[in-house]
Amino acid sequence: MAHGSDRVLMDSLTTPSESPDGRQGPEATLAPAWLVQRLQAAGGAVPFRTFMEWALHDPEHGAYGTGRLRVGPRGDFATSPSLGPAFGELLAPQLAEWLQALGPGPLALVETGPGEGDLARQLAAALALGWPELAARLELVLVEPNAGMAARQRQRLAGGPLPVRWCDWQELAARPLRGVMLAHEVLDALAVERLVWDGALWRQQLVALEATGDLVLAPGAPVADWALGQLVALDLAAAGPAAGPVPGRPAGWCSELHPGLEPWLGAAAAALSEGVLLVVDYALEARRYYSLQRSSGTLMAYQGQQASPDPLRQPGHWDLTAHLCLESLERAAAAAGWQGLGQCRQGQALLALDLAGALHGLQQPGSGDLAERLARREALLRLVDPAGLGEFRWIALGRGAATCARTPRFLREPEG
Ligand SMILES: C[S@@+](CC[C@H](N)C(=O)[O-])C[C@H]1O[C@@H](n2cnc3c(N)ncnc32)[C@H](O)[C@@H]1O
Repeated sequence: MAHGSDRVLMDSLTTPSESPDGRQGPEATLAPAWLVQRLQAAGGAVPFRTFMEWALHDPEHGAYGTGRLRVGPRGDFATSPSLGPAFGELLAPQLAEWLQALGPGPLALVETGPGEGDLARQLAAALALGWPELAARLELVLVEPNAGMAARQRQRLAGGPLPVRWCDWQELAARPLRGVMLAHEVLDALAVERLVWDGALWRQQLVALEATGDLVLAPGAPVADWALGQLVALDLAAAGPAAGPVPGRPAGWCSELHPGLEPWLGAAAAALSEGVLLVVDYALEARRYYSLQRSSGTLMAYQGQQASPDPLRQPGHWDLTAHLCLESLERAAAAAGWQGLGQCRQGQALLALDLAGALHGLQQPGSGDLAERLARREALLRLVDPAGLGEFRWIALGRGAATCARTPRFLREPEG
């Protein structure tokens, strides 16, 4: 089933056949030379997960690895922090509360996958202004595996109010921090395994090279035991050696699993001795994620404010993203040592963090010129739009008694 775009685009959704640059067509899936070499070396085909890893994160060819993708209203796709400072300003009191709960001593604000650095910049500014005592003990620590993105973050964050450094997971595991960690639209960039029901068996989906040089999606070997275990947990396969059949799913029904989630959450847990991880991302309950109707999963490609359901076009030039499954995330988080603190939609979270007060403030005399106020008002409304960013999930995970003892502010009723 073709599905619409959940990511926020500044233009209306453009399907591949409508693409204004004419890239759609037979040439759209022609493999570039670097990929031809890799696929030939691998015997002609690789699991979809390997393809996605290369297409996004390869340092020479990947969309993020090279730093080619641009986040923002004038880039490839917009995210909440890229719409203006409001997102960071509204989030700051929640972070301050979590950081204060950790008591005296040095603290860290760790952002994973900071993209253009917008959120880190907004939060550093808001915390330095509103909580100077806290900010004096706070360092900004950025985890960005893609050198091309890190280069732009360095430029964006130079001269800010907090000390800043870039670290990898190994360095952080060696010297864990106390503080708050953010993963804003990061986990949707983890490479996913795609599985296809062929009418009798679950098979791993492959990306294969045809004799013409085109890329195709092809069913591969029956799925490995770990994937079968997850399918059983999701009620998509019978337990035991039979592994099926799956009631109602037609042959060709396909979806995603996230094998990278538990290792990622394990690395994040090793990096934070005490504190909170806030995940903000597209996420669906398993019953919606793996519904009969969602027959081609949640995978989408984005570039230049266009969305496409075809993950094979121009590998390394399009962002590829897959939603998270809430139950799978919860299970992976528990296995990695995190305690669930609750989750809700972004619209609800931002209202609890006084988005209404921010809107009201824009009506007060002296709150900036009219054009600026209108732009800020529009950005605030977009953050809670139930047909867009308002549908994102905020998922809080904790480590240690200090931050786990209290319901997160964004899940409490707004104070009257
Ligand atoms: C969709 S962008 C989000 C950028 C930013 N957080 C925002 O919302 O504007 C994804 C970011 O995550 C980074 N990334 C991808 N895989 C990652 C991983 N395994 N760990 C940390 N960051 C990752 C990408 O390089 C990129 O900076």
